[in-house]
Amino acid sequence: SMLEAAHENDIELEVSNLAWYFGTAGACEGSLACSTCHVIVMDVNYYNKLEDPTDEENDMLDLAFGLTETSRLGCQVI
Ligand code: FES
Repeated sequence: SMLEAAHENDIELEVSNLAWYFGTAGACEGSLACSTCHVIVMDVNYYNKLEDPTDEENDMLDLAFGLTETSRLGCQVI
């Protein structure tokens, strides 16, 4: 996932110029129980290529700080 890639590469704030990444992400380790892995995808074309978020992801995204049209949970983006 995008979250794993960020962790593996020690990236805290920016993911390949494609997304803005919030804070200390991954508190629930990808089990859709937090929203700390919130990312804002900056490239709309890239956003549109992603699989649609599931209802569970959308529910959790609703709790995220600073939600935008292109917000995703980094742990759910492959
Ligand atoms: Fe908790 Fe992504 S790490 S929802």
